[in-house]
Amino acid sequence: MIDLFPVVGPLLRSFDPETAHTLTVRALALGLAPAVREVDDPVLRTRVWGLDFANPVGLAAGFDKNAEVMDAMLRLGFGFVEAGSVTPRPQPGNPRPRLFRLPELGAVVNRMGFNNGGLEQFARRFEDRLGNRKRAPGIVGANVGKNKDTVEAADDYAIGVRRLAPFADYLVVNVSSPNTPGLRALQGREPLQALLGRVLEARAACKLTRNPPVLLKIAPDLTDEDKADIAAVALDSGIDGLIVSNTTIARPPELPERFRNEAGGLSGKPLFGPSTQVLREMYALTGGKLSLVGAGGIASGDDAYAKIRAGASLVQLYSALVYGGPALIGAIKRDLAARLKADGFASVADAVGADHH
Ligand code: FNR
Repeated sequence: MIDLFPVVGPLLRSFDPETAHTLTVRALALGLAPAVREVDDPVLRTRVWGLDFANPVGLAAGFDKNAEVMDAMLRLGFGFVEAGSVTPRPQPGNPRPRLFRLPELGAVVNRMGFNNGGLEQFARRFEDRLGNRKRAPGIVGANVGKNKDTVEAADDYAIGVRRLAPFADYLVVNVSSPNTPGLRALQGREPLQALLGRVLEARAACKLTRNPPVLLKIAPDLTDEDKADIAAVALDSGIDGLIVSNTTIARPPELPERFRNEAGGLSGKPLFGPSTQVLREMYALTGGKLSLVGAGGIASGDDAYAKIRAGASLVQLYSALVYGGPALIGAIKRDLAARLKADGFASVADAVGADHH
């Protein structure tokens, strides 16, 4: 089928970014998705946390905040899709405008603030999907956050995990959004220890025959002490992996003046270098004992390959889709497969952390 993005893309970009996003999600939910998926090259198959991925390229959280288009996005070619972040109660997020495009840099700034329809409808969509025999093959994860006005943060994460553990293939504890006051402080040693303890208790309380892996999603803006603490707590807690990373509050000098003072998280190309550096460090600090997901600025097969060599078992993207459209997913997978083969790797797993060896 032909790819309509060269026509639809410029049209969508003529709307303000949030309207364009809402229209895209509505169209996808109605089934108006281009069938661009090709059969994945077997070299891309990978097994992580006992889950089988047809390819290691995933959709990062924030695109499908309400778990409305997981199957549509899997059909576009992603090996896995992460819905959320979801909070226990619905909330409107920050006032608009709160999403900004920087096309000249391939970047995005957002301060959405966990706008979402709440845990109940989100969980019901996961549950309904399991009962749907026509669901797309692929892995679906649920990313949980906290409501802005919740004082005891761990309560919200425990509620999310308790409700979603029976239905999601994996769970993500997101403590790294820059747009919820106080959230990133949960990355500190003591709060993190307490939080992960609560989350694993909530998962255990579900008494499932197969526990979904729990991942922690971290910020790229961390001190050396923060990183060492997170690695130690993560290893000690018994969680299964890390997602590195969320958006950055840093503002690199190449950013145009008009965006330097726009509050929120920066993603896309300028995030590639810093997020890959943190990934590299977290791989070294965790000694390959946790599986890592690399996110931040991936826009090509080379970028995905660099994340894998730096220590990622899986990768995710969001911002590049805004500029590249769905055809980008196939291009990334093809180029990644070619790079793996050219360097003599028989699988993704063989290349994980190759830069460290
Ligand atoms: C995000 N991201 C995000 N992450 C998360 O854990 N929960 C969320 O709700 C959101 N929301 C969100 C909204 C928007 C508009 C953007 C651009 C991003 C962060 C995202 O999942 C990812 O970690 C970063 O964007 C880095 O990847 P890219 O975009 O550079 O490929």
